[in-house]
Amino acid sequence: MDVKVLNTSANEQKLWKQLARLKEISPSLANCVDLERIKRVATDIHFYAENNSDFESQKEGGRGDVYRLAQRIPVVRAIGILNLFRLVASEENLENLLPNDLILDALGGDGVLVRALKQLLPESSIPNILTSDLSEEMIRGAVEYGIPALWQPAQQLLLKDRSMDGVILAYGTHHIPRAQRLIVCKEGFKVWWTFCSS
Ligand SMILES: C[S@@+](CC[C@H](N)C(=O)[O-])C[C@H]1O[C@@H](n2cnc3c(N)ncnc32)[C@H](O)[C@@H]1O
Repeated sequence: MDVKVLNTSANEQKLWKQLARLKEISPSLANCVDLERIKRVATDIHFYAENNSDFESQKEGGRGDVYRLAQRIPVVRAIGILNLFRLVASEENLENLLPNDLILDALGGDGVLVRALKQLLPESSIPNILTSDLSEEMIRGAVEYGIPALWQPAQQLLLKDRSMDGVILAYGTHHIPRAQRLIVCKEGFKVWWTFCSS
């Protein structure tokens, strides 16, 4: 019991710290976080993480280090990544993406999508992307690249309803337990502005 209480408060502290950093580098993304959800997510996150130890570091028995190493040159996946962003762009045209668009990359790893995009599109077409992931190591990696990042489970997002212009769930849905995949889709739809407002 004590251990759980301790862990929970430590998780909460981590989330508040990440939010403070997010505020510094992207106030508009930070503004999408629902502060009321922090405590609950901090409590529940380890429940979801139990199924995701694969992406932690090697010393914790995961293959996260090797994975991150393989993603150091993100443009090798240029075609697939550009196709993904076409799906969140208005009229599926990459030229319609704008820096003000808020996009959640919910299974984002260490930010390979945003890192690739920065090399593939002009600055005027790069949306404001929040990389989030269930693995702390992945988020640490994203932070080291200087990109906006948040530790959160796709099953239980910290974001306000209707706060995002697009949500990407890609290159990782097979890692979500089958029974939780519908919950993940519902969470995505909840925070996606266009869906809720139509
Ligand atoms: C195969 S990696 C892909 C990472 C990145 N999108 C890429 O394309 O390189 C899958 C990622 O999904 C994350 N993941 C798995 N289940 C998750 C969940 N329930 N919520 C958030 N992230 C999750 C893992 O930690 C891992 O970083």
